[in-house]
Amino acid sequence: MHILATVFLFSQLWFLRALAIVAANEVVPGEVVCRYNATTGPEVNYYTCTLLSLKYQLTVDKFFELNPSVDRDCEGIKPNTDYCVRGWIQQPISQDGLCGPLHGNTTCLDTVKPCCNSETWKCGDTLYGARPGSFYISLT
Ligand SMILES: *[C@@H]1O[C@H](CO)[C@@H](O)[C@H](O)[C@H]1NC(C)=O
Ligand SMILES: *[C@@H]1O[C@H](CO)[C@@H](O)[C@H](O)[C@H]1NC(C)=O
Repeated sequence: MHILATVFLFSQLWFLRALAIVAANEVVPGEVVCRYNATTGPEVNYYTCTLLSLKYQLTVDKFFELNPSVDRDCEGIKPNTDYCVRGWIQQPISQDGLCGPLHGNTTCLDTVKPCCNSETWKCGDTLYGARPGSFYISLT
């Protein structure tokens, strides 16, 4: 019984490590993780959001997603200010080893089991057990 409990605990360690990484980065699910900012010029207007999106090759929808402080009509955009043009919305971290769209879009993180297996929707490791391409690589 004691040994079983220990084995069970050990198998959960990768997940505790994932939680520790999240805590260290202070990334909250649903929050924007920004990897690159663009700075607006001295003159801005309602068209600036579209121009930035074109220049940095992201959709206008994605631009608004990454910059929740900007209204959909782009009226609130400020001059000489950083706006995010590369990044993503932090997905929730898997709490139970299940992941992907069937499980609330949870992610497995960059740990010993960083990948979400797209056949089983379980966190796993790319080195065994899957055909090429059958893993969904977590970006976080
Ligand atoms: C983007 O700009 C914001 C606000 O100035 C800043 O908090 C953030 O660290 C910047 N991110 C990057 C990747 O440069
Ligand atoms: C998961 O992500 C997909 C694609 O981005 C989205 O259509 C779906 O609504 C999301 N599901 C949940 C539960 O957030």
